[in-house]
Amino acid sequence: MNTSTANPINQAETIKQRVSALLARMTLAEKIGQMCQLDASHGYAPDYLADALRAGRIGSVLNITDVNTVNELQRIAVEETRLGIPLLVGRDVIHGFKTILPIPLGQAASWNPDLVREGARLAALEAATTGINWTFAPMIDISRDARWGRIAESFGECVLLTSTLGAAMVEGFQSDDLTAPGAIAACAKHFAGYGAVESGRDYATTNVPETKLRNVYLRPFKAAVDAGVTSLMTSFSDLNGIPATGNEFLLRQVLRDEWEFDGLVVSDWDSIRQLQIHGLTENDKESAFEAATAGVDMEMAGDAYSNHLAELVHESRIDMQVIDTAVANILRAKFRLGLFESPFTNPADLPPIANERSLETAKQAALESVVLLKNEHAVLPLSAEQLNTVAVIGPLSDAPYQQLGTWIFDGDVDLSITPMHAIHSLVGHDVNVRYVRAMENSRSKVNAAFDDAVEIARDSDAAILFLGEESILSGEAHSRADINLPGDQAELVRRIRETGKPVIAVILAGRPLTLTNIVDQVDAIMYAWHPGTMGGPAIAELLFGVESPSGKLPATFPRMVGQIPIYYSQKNSGKPPSKDTVVHIDDIDTRAPQTSLGMTAFHLDTHFTPLFAFGHGLSYAKFDYQNIRVSAHEIGLDDTVTISAELTNVGDVAADEVVQLYVRDVVASITRPVKELKGFRRVRVEPHETVTVDFELHTSDLTFYGRDMQPVTEPGEFHVWIGGSSETELRTEFRIVQGEECDNS
Ligand code: BGC
Repeated sequence: MNTSTANPINQAETIKQRVSALLARMTLAEKIGQMCQLDASHGYAPDYLADALRAGRIGSVLNITDVNTVNELQRIAVEETRLGIPLLVGRDVIHGFKTILPIPLGQAASWNPDLVREGARLAALEAATTGINWTFAPMIDISRDARWGRIAESFGECVLLTSTLGAAMVEGFQSDDLTAPGAIAACAKHFAGYGAVESGRDYATTNVPETKLRNVYLRPFKAAVDAGVTSLMTSFSDLNGIPATGNEFLLRQVLRDEWEFDGLVVSDWDSIRQLQIHGLTENDKESAFEAATAGVDMEMAGDAYSNHLAELVHESRIDMQVIDTAVANILRAKFRLGLFESPFTNPADLPPIANERSLETAKQAALESVVLLKNEHAVLPLSAEQLNTVAVIGPLSDAPYQQLGTWIFDGDVDLSITPMHAIHSLVGHDVNVRYVRAMENSRSKVNAAFDDAVEIARDSDAAILFLGEESILSGEAHSRADINLPGDQAELVRRIRETGKPVIAVILAGRPLTLTNIVDQVDAIMYAWHPGTMGGPAIAELLFGVESPSGKLPATFPRMVGQIPIYYSQKNSGKPPSKDTVVHIDDIDTRAPQTSLGMTAFHLDTHFTPLFAFGHGLSYAKFDYQNIRVSAHEIGLDDTVTISAELTNVGDVAADEVVQLYVRDVVASITRPVKELKGFRRVRVEPHETVTVDFELHTSDLTFYGRDMQPVTEPGEFHVWIGGSSETELRTEFRIVQGEECDNS
């Protein structure tokens, strides 16, 4: 190997030269071929793919996972096409491949970027054994609507959490060296604003003002670009009247001109042709025109590019430069992946699937993602020594497929260990574990098995109910308008409650559910999301106190669906409600004067606060925060301030705590959120230990896009909080002052 290529700058220069040299040799048809991605699972005639490949009509395939077939297609690409350009082989590897990690929303609850990075690494290693070299993850759409089924795939509502975990996932998939065996290209999606779909209905319209777009929705994508993500995928949705797949503002102005992204942009599934259905174009040809000129390099699973791009170039409507730029972006990705040097896959070069490390990582991720929402009278952890009999009840106790969650094309259900089995293995020798499923599935109605469930609960020392929703109730195109526990699960809870035995609800779900109708009926709630392959052992160990829960909510839990969107970083409004703004609708005197209930921003029929706040999560330890301090009360415009607090574990067990730092920019040229997460850290604290946790905040961390859409940090007062959830009240202040005004004392 020529040692000069090992230097990244030389490597970039070499890739640039190789791209130009190759491009110069390509015909228009070959160029357009590179811009087309075919769905290999489509059911084409046997030789269709190979023939299309030989003819130079394909640059990428997706949904093919047989290594021999992939190697054969790569062989044809490199040996039997005129220019020998290898293929990008894409697949949705979203939260694991065969070994499944918690859904991304669950991983987000770990607030642990190292774990997310490691999880993506193991997914990449497994996926790469089949020849996959490109995944369509991470999904980093800010999601503030639990009705939206795709919230499951996201990291939740917060800009910083999503940006940090998204970047970590990119690093995990791609590793330090994208050419190394087992590294695969990542794809940040869906650019952009998809999470804001109206009423949480998938694919619906989004309207996001530019300041909000820049201050919220675009930020995680910038973080992914900074982390070196190979590609971005456009969104299906309409953004402010221009569907994202034809949106020049997003794809050229922001992505290429402002961020200087030189990676590859792929459409979403057939989203180019859908520009017509949106009502933006009259036909596929115009859709191809809009997408290509907006800056979509590759079309996924459609044929608008293959059918119309050549004609558009011949008619001089699309400049050859547009095509060349798109193809250069695609070729650059292929060079960066080292595909020209090693197009083939030998699974034996990679670790075995579902090895000990994969399963251990999946279990650790599940352990850290479970959020203890409620634990009245410390009913948890359960003690195997003190219990004689425990009742395990509910449709998700022993549902190996359902615990894997959405987007698990390749997940191996046979690897799943369910909570019921795990509880048996963990405590079965000491405790009599009795099980009644009670409901066929989460939507079942009251039935005779409820009586059996009540009976075993009555004969037990505690009842653990595994409730929630199956995988199919969240994910793409699986939004819900009612996000209560489906079916008669609440009635099952009520019946078990009547036994007087301690009731522990463990909820497996792809979204925050509204739990208002069960929260007072149970002693404890553990929110386990869809926890993946190793969900069972993780949950069992948490229930019986082998480890303490440490997950924190990455999304706000509403009391009722009508509160949505409800998220911690809301604006204050001109009439914010106060703590005592509580009205009971049934008590309202119908002749009461209009102003008598308080004229503030709340709903008459529920409290204005959420049921569980962003960042909330209990522990078996007890944490006490004190002494918040700033290193300086005044700092200049390009300075750093350190904010610290003391955290004491006043409980009796060692546990992890996720310490959170929030900031409010009190007065600004555009109104700013009441709180924004600006730092977080997971720390292990021993019983009776006190640790000082400090966060360094540079003034650039306080930058926002102002009225002129330019980034700015403004002088003025900032409130800062440290604590264990977004509801923390441990606060101090500092000011940013202009140049000479600054007094650092
Ligand atoms: C989804 C994408 C996904 C693609 C390929 C689309 O329907 O929106 O997120 O990557 O399909 O499976």
